[in-house]
Amino acid sequence: MKLETVAEIAHRIATSPPLLEAKGLCVDYVTEAGNIRACDDINITLHRGEILGIAGESASGKSTLLAALGRLQRAPAVTSAGQVVFHAKGKEPVDLTRLSEEQLVDYRWSGISIVMQSAMACLNPVSRLKAQFLDVLLAHDSSLTKATATARAEELLQMVGIPSHRINAFPHELSGGMQQRALIALSLACDPELVLMDEPTTAVDVVMQRQILAKVLELQEKLGFAIAFVTHDLSLLLEISDRIAIMYGGKIVEVGTAAQMYEAPRHPYTQGLRNAFPPLTEPVRKLTGIPGSPPNLLNLPQGCAFAPRCSQKIARCESEIPALLDISGGRAACHLLTQEIPEPAKEALNA
Ligand SMILES: Nc1ncnc2c1ncn2[C@@H]1O[C@H](COP(=O)(O)OP(=O)(O)OP(=O)(O)O)[C@@H](O)[C@H]1O
Ligand SMILES: [Mg+2]
Repeated sequence: MKLETVAEIAHRIATSPPLLEAKGLCVDYVTEAGNIRACDDINITLHRGEILGIAGESASGKSTLLAALGRLQRAPAVTSAGQVVFHAKGKEPVDLTRLSEEQLVDYRWSGISIVMQSAMACLNPVSRLKAQFLDVLLAHDSSLTKATATARAEELLQMVGIPSHRINAFPHELSGGMQQRALIALSLACDPELVLMDEPTTAVDVVMQRQILAKVLELQEKLGFAIAFVTHDLSLLLEISDRIAIMYGGKIVEVGTAAQMYEAPRHPYTQGLRNAFPPLTEPVRKLTGIPGSPPNLLNLPQGCAFAPRCSQKIARCESEIPALLDISGGRAACHLLTQEIPEPAKEALNA
């Protein structure tokens, strides 16, 4: 449980050094139907030890962004523009987009690791946990003996609440929750500086989800790695994140501290998401959802991609794409926030 005030969180983030910077990052899926720009001009800085939540409806580009941040995207996805600058401890900053696969080996697991939604898709089904942990550990530290690496693997499993003797199990012999925790343990094997988590708990039940997240947060506090965490579930992110980035149609449309996003989301889309996911600690109230559906990335509207669904839109929204601008502590991409607007619309925006 975090006890910092909003101002303290904002100060901690602003003063901690950058860890990963996406600059003008664009990712396209090259398909027969055309180029699908799933990430469009993404600019965001992740700081050391920060938990950044990334939320948005399905197909908004969350997984694509997360993979591109770790240079883990697969064809047909290509990073078509921009940089991802990683500031690894004790090394010069590097643009991950420009590294060869060979050079990337130095940064995988020890710099950046990833936990995906389905542990079974990441763990090798025909290999015992021990072999998988030893593979990763020994590849990154050739000075380790097998015995030390095994002891480290057992310690990692225990850290996520898996008894050390299960190190000899095959992944399918573990429950879904345990598989997911084993994957989290593996992601932490080489003491990474950043862990990318793409819906790491969606495949497990709610009770297990809470247990796993509590464990992740405990380890994060102890070990100090940063997390970029993707989910549809804004209420979950509000609880665990320092800052939250909201994606819509391949763009980041708002960034702010979790408290800010909860108390005063500024983009009409964030307001809609916020109303659709009231935090669990609040009394039940009417869920409003957001009418309409996400945009087709192959046929985006001319102006703001959210305009067709936005009840507060003005004429400019349909012709001009709003830029992501600094707005009192956070950033948002919405014309309503950057121009003189009549009082009634202003009231609606602040509601
Ligand atoms: N392999 C692929 N080939 C072509 N287009 C793809 C591919 N994978 C994703 N896309 C497109 O890229 C866009 C973003 O997809 P992405 O998976 O990043 O969204 P997401 O926000 O993670 O969605 P979800 O919440 O459903 O996981 C979507 O329009 C999707 O159709
Ligand atoms: Mg996804």
